[in-house]
Amino acid sequence: MFNNNTILERFAQQETPFYYYDLQLLEETLTQAKAAADKRNFHIHYALKANFNDRVLAIIQEKGFGADCVSGNEVQKSIDLGFPADKITFAGVGKADKEIITALKHRIFAFNVESIQELEVINALAAEVGETANISLRINPNVDAHTHHYITTGLDENKFGVPNSELEKAAAVIGNCAHINLLGLHFHVGSQITDMNVFKSLCVKVNEWKNWFEERGTYIKVINVGGGLGVDYQNPDANPIPDFEAYFDIFDKFLERNAQQEVHFELGRALVAQAGTLVSKVLYTKSGAKKNFLILDAGMTELMRPMLYQAYHKIEKIGADVGAKELNYDVVGPICESSDCFGKEVPLPQSQRGDLIAIRTAGAYGEVMASRYNLREEVRYVFS
Ligand code: LLP
Repeated sequence: MFNNNTILERFAQQETPFYYYDLQLLEETLTQAKAAADKRNFHIHYALKANFNDRVLAIIQEKGFGADCVSGNEVQKSIDLGFPADKITFAGVGKADKEIITALKHRIFAFNVESIQELEVINALAAEVGETANISLRINPNVDAHTHHYITTGLDENKFGVPNSELEKAAAVIGNCAHINLLGLHFHVGSQITDMNVFKSLCVKVNEWKNWFEERGTYIKVINVGGGLGVDYQNPDANPIPDFEAYFDIFDKFLERNAQQEVHFELGRALVAQAGTLVSKVLYTKSGAKKNFLILDAGMTELMRPMLYQAYHKIEKIGADVGAKELNYDVVGPICESSDCFGKEVPLPQSQRGDLIAIRTAGAYGEVMASRYNLREEVRYVFS
């Protein structure tokens, strides 16, 4: 993909490693997602946790997306960058008191509440600061997302949401909380979901739980189905933009609702993943008895997904000569951990010290999960 001379010259002048963000692709992805959602009157809150780079966020905000936050700092940052407070949701199983107070003071759209105790704490804090908190109750729907077990969230054994067995009690508590206003229900079953049947199963569960509340006389205005739409890590060039039409179509078809009921989404990865690439330089090559190693100047400190989730990211030599001899390399980083490996037996054109390597589809959960382990430098980034 990165074979044009302008990019190569820019990359060659830049200190590595760095994240490269293709802002045109980002814009196009956002435009398609927004158009597909607007057409159906759906609302998207961008999940900041996927990427909170200021420039990326500013573009998302300008396009009219809401924000889905999981910390007081994310709520504050969304406000600072101009996301309207009435489009901000605040989720997470462990909201600290001061984070709740920040969100209450900004009068955000809704707290996604994950336990009965949290309901009581938000109610008490809202009373203290003289506010009423709008909430969506997060229900654990027990739907298998068929994704990596670290990023599946909607099963009974996961820590997220209120389990079915507690719903009766949660509904009673909400009824007794004068400073809480139940707006709706919230669900999220996992991330990097590529099988649309998972979302169909989710819709079936959502309908059941919505009916459960409505039969008890509780009006559900907001149905928030979370995020989770996956991207094509294998073929980023063939599929740079996810099929938002097909995704929203499932919910449009299978979610039972009336014209007043709003459907909300919290998409992260699908909006930003393909727009980001980690660019790194080969520091050393080394051939052992069994292996060829490419030792890069980027490691798990810049992109942790392969090490944490055994996640696949396409690895390419930048500016590779067509027809060059290929070798299988273990592509590793400089960090003192054996797990610091981006890919094993990766076929690449024969490479040498100084060559540039692209690790693709790194715009989501890449830069945000970087660390300073080994006292590494702060991550750098470059825009198209
Ligand atoms: N809403 C909730 C409640 C979530 O927990 C998440 C992601 C999202 C929305 C956004 O999901 P997305 O559309 O991005 O799939 N670090 C992992 C992914 C963790 C996802 C956590 N929750 C990774 O690198 O794959």
